[in-house]
Amino acid sequence: MKSRLLTASITALLVASIAAPNLSWASQVSPAAVQAQAVPADVLARANALIARMTLEEKAGQVSQLFLFGDPTPFEPGVRSGATGALLFVTDPALINRLQKVAVEESRLGIPLLFGFDVIHGLRTIFPVPIGMAASWDPASVEQGQAIAAAEARASGIHWTFAPMLDITRDPRWGRIVEGPGEDPYLGAALARAAVKGFQGEHIGAPGHIIAGPKHFAVYGASEGGRDYDSAFVSDSQFYNVYLPPFAAAIEAGAGNVMSAYMELNDIPAAANHWLLTDVLRKQLGFEGFVVSDANGVKSLVPQGFAIDEADAAVRGLSAGNDLEMATAEAANATLPQAVRSGRLKEAVLDDAVRRVLVAKIRMGLFENPYVDEGATEAVLSAPGHRQAALAAAERSLVLLQNAGGALPLSATAYRRVAVIGPLADSAQDTLGSWVFVPKLEETVTVAEGIRRRLGESAQVTTAPGVQLRRGTPSMFEMFRPAPPAWTEAQAEVEFERAVEAARGADLVVLALGEIEQMSGEGASRTSLSLPGDQLRLVDAVKALNKPMVAVLLNGRPLDIAPLAEQVPGILEAWHPGSEGGTAVAKALFGDINPGGKLPMTWPRSVGQIPIYYSHNATKAPADQGARYWDQPSTPLYPFGYGLSYTDFAFTDIAVDRAAVRLGEPVVVTATVTNTGARAGDEVVQLYIHQRSGRAARPVRELKGFERVTLQPGESRQVRFNLTQAELRYWNAGERDWVLDPSDFDVWIGGDSRAELKTSFTVAP
Ligand code: NOJ
Repeated sequence: MKSRLLTASITALLVASIAAPNLSWASQVSPAAVQAQAVPADVLARANALIARMTLEEKAGQVSQLFLFGDPTPFEPGVRSGATGALLFVTDPALINRLQKVAVEESRLGIPLLFGFDVIHGLRTIFPVPIGMAASWDPASVEQGQAIAAAEARASGIHWTFAPMLDITRDPRWGRIVEGPGEDPYLGAALARAAVKGFQGEHIGAPGHIIAGPKHFAVYGASEGGRDYDSAFVSDSQFYNVYLPPFAAAIEAGAGNVMSAYMELNDIPAAANHWLLTDVLRKQLGFEGFVVSDANGVKSLVPQGFAIDEADAAVRGLSAGNDLEMATAEAANATLPQAVRSGRLKEAVLDDAVRRVLVAKIRMGLFENPYVDEGATEAVLSAPGHRQAALAAAERSLVLLQNAGGALPLSATAYRRVAVIGPLADSAQDTLGSWVFVPKLEETVTVAEGIRRRLGESAQVTTAPGVQLRRGTPSMFEMFRPAPPAWTEAQAEVEFERAVEAARGADLVVLALGEIEQMSGEGASRTSLSLPGDQLRLVDAVKALNKPMVAVLLNGRPLDIAPLAEQVPGILEAWHPGSEGGTAVAKALFGDINPGGKLPMTWPRSVGQIPIYYSHNATKAPADQGARYWDQPSTPLYPFGYGLSYTDFAFTDIAVDRAAVRLGEPVVVTATVTNTGARAGDEVVQLYIHQRSGRAARPVRELKGFERVTLQPGESRQVRFNLTQAELRYWNAGERDWVLDPSDFDVWIGGDSRAELKTSFTVAP
């Protein structure tokens, strides 16, 4: 009795001492960001000493980055004079060393060049496209993939990547959805942390690592109509609660660079938006690294109707907080010396930008080790462990969308003749996905090749595209990857028949459908989400043959596959799965592995539902939530977090450690997940909360925890989530600040955003 009393009074004391919510940093820079972003004093001193010796022209050069394709000779004079401080698009170590030598040995101050590149999902070893990596719900896999990408890049002489792309988007028409984490800020933040750690390692300059450049800051994913580069108009509430969290997480993880976005945010171009780049990015998030514009993002201020001319654009971009200008040809920043001389720009503002770039070069060790060891590059690029990691990542990114009647997995011994048909069946380029500039097509395992290797001698595998997929307008990447000549009508018919014939001669048909890689990515928005081209006609023709058939999808965005789902019982989403994609797909189709990925996006039934996302607010009539259109349900085709498995999982025993807490105190939520089926498998356990009342209407559900677990048949695991201030606070438009509200909270734990197992807790004032 005595000891129980003692415990009670100690508990009371403890509660009293932690009851006052620690909101002191809520609207200030988080302690984690302060720590991660701190620049060592000696590095700053070294940068300042250099700045003191620089001419205005040399300073302008340090904030100018140019595109370099092909012959580097025309770039050498600029590097020698100090007019160019950084380059992008060079991936050949010999060329990098050649240009670096000019900078280090022939320029007046010997300041090394910084080489950047779009290392988005691998360099030589290609991992699944980022939306596919997001579908793995596996930060460890993202971290490992980007660490490998970094190793390959660094071994090639690249110092910095324009990644991760962290644009939350709720519009599947937008092409760049393929490059990002999807619709959810919490998942996006977790993956952002992982990607930055993978790219950068323990600190900026860690051996074998590169600087991460989260992009595009910010709200690019909300461009109107899903049209690339169009204006974004979002409220501050959406800005802070939805679009900002992944960037905040990346900065807390120590990201050394941020890329500003192209479009106007609430009418002010992101590249010259002082509120965005200085008030939010530096003062609120505590970012200390350098900001780069997107390609020609500074010059674009002129056609955007913001700057009078390029000289005006340069001054206003820099003054707003953009440090380095990325330009396809001569930088607008070359005009900055004149702006300083005429008094339009304070030299101190230019010095601040130059300092941030120099700090990056110093921290990367470029003054000591400017060159890359050309003799060591190939061994890193072809390290076998890299391929294995890409395979594991591809396996984890697969999402089983439909499995009527247990159509999947297929028997690996029952079929003698297998037809793998469709436009994505045997296309190496589309297996890799967008943002792969130096593809090793011959080293890429397509779906057809993966199946062929898996079945070996036991079956004869034939393949035919059947349909040619082409964009209506050419892709902006045509110069790197020209589209093959269009089939004539007659040829199209012959090819179609050839595919149907292959199916007719087979005892199993695997359809590989979706979008070619140029149908998503930059400048690749659509007005429709249907399977493009003649793909459904091919499905119908094969269906009429009455053979066992399943479908694999390769694509970079949610697609309206309802018509396909009516025809084909088993559908596996593979995204653009990378170098080992076909191997992973074959392993899943034939049951060597069990798909466990989940959708990082809501899949709409039709374009008319856009924007559609799980984390919307309740209406005045919550019971009608699913019936807000009269012509079709307002529920999605597939909800956020959705994905099937070859086994089944049950969720039980949800509990909170305390049913009532005081404002600011954490709550621990636990539940048990059990594999109730006959195969081992992965489940992504997801926790959602809802705040029932408060100073703002909060979403019906918000993801606030997840964990991917592997369970053997019959195995159970207790999962545990900690809900702290970070999970319970939100940005309130009335207070114009981060707040915690006293309220009852509902909590669900389950396998997707419709999770039913529920409990609740109360946060008292
Ligand atoms: C433009 C894209 O918007 C950006 O994401 C990319 O990093 C640059 N081009 C450089 O390729």
